[in-house]
Amino acid sequence: MLNETLKVINSRRSIRKYKGEQITGAELQEILKAALYAPSARNQQAWHFSVVQNKALMGKIQKIMKENMLNSGDDFSVERASAPGFIAFHNAPTVIFISADEKAGKTEIDCGIAAENISLAAESLNIGSCILTSSEHLFARDKDGALKKELGFLDGYRHVCSVVLGYKDCENPPAAPRKDDLITYL
Ligand SMILES: Cc1cc2nc3c(=O)[nH]c(=O)nc-3n(C[C@H](O)[C@H](O)[C@H](O)COP(=O)(O)O)c2cc1C
Repeated sequence: MLNETLKVINSRRSIRKYKGEQITGAELQEILKAALYAPSARNQQAWHFSVVQNKALMGKIQKIMKENMLNSGDDFSVERASAPGFIAFHNAPTVIFISADEKAGKTEIDCGIAAENISLAAESLNIGSCILTSSEHLFARDKDGALKKELGFLDGYRHVCSVVLGYKDCENPPAAPRKDDLITYL
């Protein structure tokens, strides 16, 4: 009954501690293929995937993200970014930004499914991942869209979420608690 797909779904966790070593190009390609094979409303595929692995660009976005979190006025984000040793994007060696056409509908759902496909494909390769929407902080001061452009977002596309990836520097943590009254059988 418990086939490989179900095992991967059950074992995936949000990973927040990564080794410095980069994932291989072949692994990245398989993971991106899984993103592109996600379903989307009316098969619109109104999404775009920006892969950051370059160390200089990674350092830049980690710095901007931390500054913006500290200046966000949001207690949770300020506390996170103030923690000793905090490095944005969980210091993962790969970050995939998922952006979507502002004019298309249902893109939050489409991009969320693509993000989960990325996470499950990663877990199937024993690669850690974490989906982030807090990456929206990165663009808090990007009024002219220069950073979005630098990250390869297409014109008229907005940030939806990101997924960080890398080899795990920890065991998979126990499953975060799940509520047990969320299904009604009729
Ligand atoms: C839409 C979405 C946004 C999330 N944003 C963040 C985030 O910004 N930072 C983070 O560390 N985890 C983030 N997570 C991970 C959740 O905290 C995590 O999925 C949840 O606690 C359950 O844990 P699990 O993924 O290990 O099952 C996000 C997850 C989702 C689905």
